[in-house]
Amino acid sequence: MKVDIISIFPEYFAPLDLSLIGKARTAGTLELSVHDLRTWTSDVHRTVDDTPYGGGPGMVMRPEPWGQALDAVATPGTTLVVPSPVGAPFTQADAHQLAELDHLVFACGRYEGIDQRVIDDAAARMPVREVSLGDYVLFGGEVAVIVIMEAITRLLPGVLGNAESLTEESHAAGLLEAPVYTKPQSWRGRDVPDVLRSGDHGRIARWRREQSLLRTASRRPDMWAAYPPENLDKKDRAA
Ligand code: ADE
Repeated sequence: MKVDIISIFPEYFAPLDLSLIGKARTAGTLELSVHDLRTWTSDVHRTVDDTPYGGGPGMVMRPEPWGQALDAVATPGTTLVVPSPVGAPFTQADAHQLAELDHLVFACGRYEGIDQRVIDDAAARMPVREVSLGDYVLFGGEVAVIVIMEAITRLLPGVLGNAESLTEESHAAGLLEAPVYTKPQSWRGRDVPDVLRSGDHGRIARWRREQSLLRTASRRPDMWAAYPPENLDKKDRAA
């Protein structure tokens, strides 16, 4: 997968050299380039923002540098991703969809956002996804891009050693995962649940399933309400 990130703070993306994302880049699974938006300015001050039409606080990103930047990096197969508090909530399903694509361009807005015409102009030529990480406002799209890139990269083929962890994990099946434990068996007077040391794979699977249902119902009533009742079997109902 090829990814281009456009931002006025390219330094923000240093963490993408680390850990499994860094490895995916070295392995060639992920071809990632970060671009400074100011490359596409033409005035001496390398201006990227201006006051909003209609008044109001803050500054808006001017369309010209963005237009030139997108013209330079977009190709016929590009999907543009614009993190924004007014985007659609970014979900695990979105991560899966984006992980299937050949080329993503991320546009990082700052200040009060990017002039709407940039989004409209791009949408006339390529798929555009405006996505929000949640109902709160960040300084800009940079941290959101790091989060989204992490969610996507771990889904790319060969990045995770154990592909089973992708099917088992929280959100994969619309449920939260059961709690996990490792050694030692007893720690500060707290013991690992006996069932996990029983060696009885049927019972362990049953216990995990129940914990998963209980956790989802208590912590995420929204997910629980959306969980298809036909996915509950007799034993689930009994629990
Ligand atoms: N940029 C600013 N706030 C954001 C949010 N909540 N999600 C994604 N991008 C953002």
